[in-house]
Parts: sequence; structure tokens; C-alpha cells
Amino acid sequence: MSFVQVRDLWQAYGDRSILERVNVDVAEGEFISIVGASGCGKSTFLRMLLAEERPTRGSIRIDGGEPALEPNRERGVVFQKYSVFPHLTVRDNLIAGQSFGTRWGALFGGAKAAARANADDMLAKIGLNHVADQYPASLSGGMQQRLAIAQALIAKPRVLLLDEPFGALDPGTRVQMHEFLQALRDETGMTVFMVTHDLEEGFKLGDRVLVFDKPRWDPHDPGAYGATITYDFDARDGGIPFQHLNPPTTKDITDAL
Ligand SMILES: Nc1ncnc2c1ncn2[C@@H]1O[C@H](COP(=O)(O)OP(=O)(O)O)[C@@H](O)[C@H]1O
Ligand SMILES: [Mg+2]
Repeated sequence: MSFVQVRDLWQAYGDRSILERVNVDVAEGEFISIVGASGCGKSTFLRMLLAEERPTRGSIRIDGGEPALEPNRERGVVFQKYSVFPHLTVRDNLIAGQSFGTRWGALFGGAKAAARANADDMLAKIGLNHVADQYPASLSGGMQQRLAIAQALIAKPRVLLLDEPFGALDPGTRVQMHEFLQALRDETGMTVFMVTHDLEEGFKLGDRVLVFDKPRWDPHDPGAYGATITYDFDARDGGIPFQHLNPPTTKDITDAL
């Protein structure tokens, strides 16, 4: 059985179908980029992987079990979006990130000293060591985003969910964060699901690029049908989707979105 297995997944809110018949298999360690039009259900899909929402129909298995409700390292999923605690300093946020999944949700003694050293190491890597004792609200948007990503990554989760993580970053910082994420992923072998609206970023970082789109469309009732995975591109080796006899151009993909 594959590491992440999604079978005939549906999600509807009231009589609005958001997602329908989503099927996908992901091997452990794969980096999955997800693209698709705004509002087509990409964040909803991540929330279901996080067990924050139950599907209307269908199933998700992560390492053979249901998605874990509490983040934990074994079958844990960390979502970059909600991770930063406003009442903790930047350093303490990274220390807290390492206590997820511990028995008491807190670290003591030697473990705490090690967590502090790890936090400082991470802060240096992401260029936030000079603001270690500040609170998140005092940081710029880009710095807050880097902190959120670092906090999610520091727990070395087996599954990492990133929802448009680099959106607010300037191009230089974005490239730095790409390199940082790629190095961490090589080191940990974690499985990543990343939603992005930047196709180039999706192909650069992802092993696969999944396109979410509505295969059925009722012009009189645009909310009648949900989206599903309409393309599953192989993005390894420079993004040539070898399973396609006629490799789609960027324009084809853009048109499909
Ligand atoms: N809890 C909810 N109740 C009702 N509608 C929701 C809820 N969450 C999301 N939606 C709707 O589901 C659709 C998909 O949302 P979302 O997953 O955020 O899309 P995306 O991330 O692809 O932009 C949107 O139309 C949104 O308004
Ligand atoms: Mg979204």
C-alpha cells in the first residue's frame, strides 16, 4: 500500500460539491505540488489530510491509518499555516515546534537544552537569529512566513503540508527558502504536499504536479460540481512529463487551470 492513499474522496458543503472522486497514491518521500484555480478546493484537500475536516465520502490513509488528529512525528502532519503562536518569542516558537507529539506537549531538562540549540541553529539558517527574542507581530510579513515554515519543519514531520508558503516573499528570499526546504527534505525524506499558484515553483520543487480542476461544468449552476485531479505530471528530471506522448507546453497547463 502506498504511504498516502486517497480513495474516492468527496467533499461538499451543503449542496455545494467542492471536491469529487479524488484518487491519488503518494509514496513516502515524494514532493507533491498542487495547482488549480482559486476556490477549487486545494486548501480543503490539505485540511482533510490534516484531519481537520472529515470527507463527505471516501477515505484517506496515511501509513495505513486515518490522518492523525494531533500532530505527531510518526504519522504526523504539520501545517505551516497555523503554526506560529503570537504569545511566544521567535525562539520559543521554534522550541514549541519540537514539542509537538511529545507525551506532555512540553520538553524538559536536557531535551529542552537540545531544543534550544536546534532552534538557534534553525534561526541562523533562515536568517532570523537577530530577532530571536522578539514576538512574531514585530516581524515583517516575509519574516513571519519564514518563521512559520521553520516552525513546521523543525519537528521533522513525516508529512508536511504547505499552503502557498512563499507567496509574500521577495524573489531572493523565495529562492533561499526553496533551497532551505530542498536541503531539509533531502535530509529527512519527508513527504510534502505544497499548494502553489506559481507553476514554475511547482515544477521546480515538486516530484509531481497535481492539477485540481472541474471536469464537469454547469454554466447555469457553477457550484453544482466539484473539482478533482485532472492532471498528474511527472516533474522530476527538469519537469518533462514522460508519461505523455505529446508533452504539454506551459500554455497547455495554464489553459487547463
Ligand atoms: N467550511 C466551509 N463551509 C462552506 N464552504 C467552504 C468551507 N471551506 C471552504 N469552503 C468553500 O469551498 C471552496 C473551496 O475552498 P478552498 O479549499 O479554500 O479553495 P482553494 O484553496 O483551492 O482556493 C470555496 O468556494 C470556499 O468558499
Ligand atoms: Mg487555498
